[in-house]
Amino acid sequence: MTKARLYSGMQPSADSLQIGNYIGALMQWRDLQESYDAFFSVVDLHAITQPNDPSELREKTRRTAAQYIAAGIEPAKSTLYVQSHVSAHAELAWILGTLTGFGEAGRMTQFKDKSQRYGQDATSVGLFTYPVLMAADILLYQTAVVPVGDDQKQHIELTRVLAERFNSRFGDTFRVPMPVIQQDTARIYDLQNPLAKMSKSAESDAGVLWLLDDPSASAKKIMRAVTDSEGSVRYDREAKPGVSNLLVIYAALSGRQIPAIEDEYAGRGYGDFKKGLAEVLVSEFEPVRARALELLDDPAELDRVLGANADHAAEVAETTLSDVYDRMGLLRRR
Ligand code: AMP
Ligand code: TRP
Repeated sequence: MTKARLYSGMQPSADSLQIGNYIGALMQWRDLQESYDAFFSVVDLHAITQPNDPSELREKTRRTAAQYIAAGIEPAKSTLYVQSHVSAHAELAWILGTLTGFGEAGRMTQFKDKSQRYGQDATSVGLFTYPVLMAADILLYQTAVVPVGDDQKQHIELTRVLAERFNSRFGDTFRVPMPVIQQDTARIYDLQNPLAKMSKSAESDAGVLWLLDDPSASAKKIMRAVTDSEGSVRYDREAKPGVSNLLVIYAALSGRQIPAIEDEYAGRGYGDFKKGLAEVLVSEFEPVRARALELLDDPAELDRVLGANADHAAEVAETTLSDVYDRMGLLRRR
């Protein structure tokens, strides 16, 4: 039986991923790649909807790919590639743009938030059509499922609408994908502000744990994480967001259940608990970090792997794109 296809991606928007990306995305991708024909891209064309220094973008793209591999995405099992290496993405995005209503794109809440934040002069047409490029990413591969955070749900809904619209206007061409929204338990919050999602673009560095940081620096951040004055290690998202967040991280990285961790630290203070978590974190991340740095030490080999995976992606993508051109009546070059 052939496996159903899965597609996801992340922007190369920082030198290092943060552990929210690791727990909320990479750990799940690593498991899902066993049961799906999985495609994972580093979406550099999406990243340039914000200003980027060219040499930094190149480096961030390699770094993001290296962290995918170090976290267990296997380029021999999954197709792991850089979005701009497959020109069909930009081509299909143009086509889908002609089927997207101006108002429809304008209703995307992420666009509304970002354009408000950047101001009118810094808001590009590319930012406006960001979700259309995302739809192209997904639809090119006849994707069945798309694992994403819930902030991307609206973009997947648009993708489904565009697929159905194309299919009904021009004949069955695209598979209509389903979102797989990551559960709440996989959401990681800022260590200093446990009501806000941990994010690569957080204002303060003290609340963010970076995958490629020196593990001792991460251990220090854990020791300084915001807790509460109750002093007991128990999960209660409402009353104890800081401790609850640390418990979620502990459980995710150790593979243990939260109640078992609560039991272990019953009657002990937050200091012990944090020390325990720091140990778990260091032992989980030390090998991931070492592997990522090793891959980055040999950029030529990394580029070769990405290139070979892009060849495979391009083959699949071009089959779909060619059908799209045919169905729309574009005269094909002989
Ligand atoms: P971003 O870095 O926001 O583009 O996110 C890339 C991927 O990481 C998406 O699948 C997000 O859902 C996931 N992610 C980002 N931040 C977190 C977080 N704090 N907790 C859980 N998952 C996250
Ligand atoms: N917009 C997604 C995010 O910010 C990244 C992304 C781009 C993506 N193309 C995709 C995710 C296709 C899933 C499928 O997280």
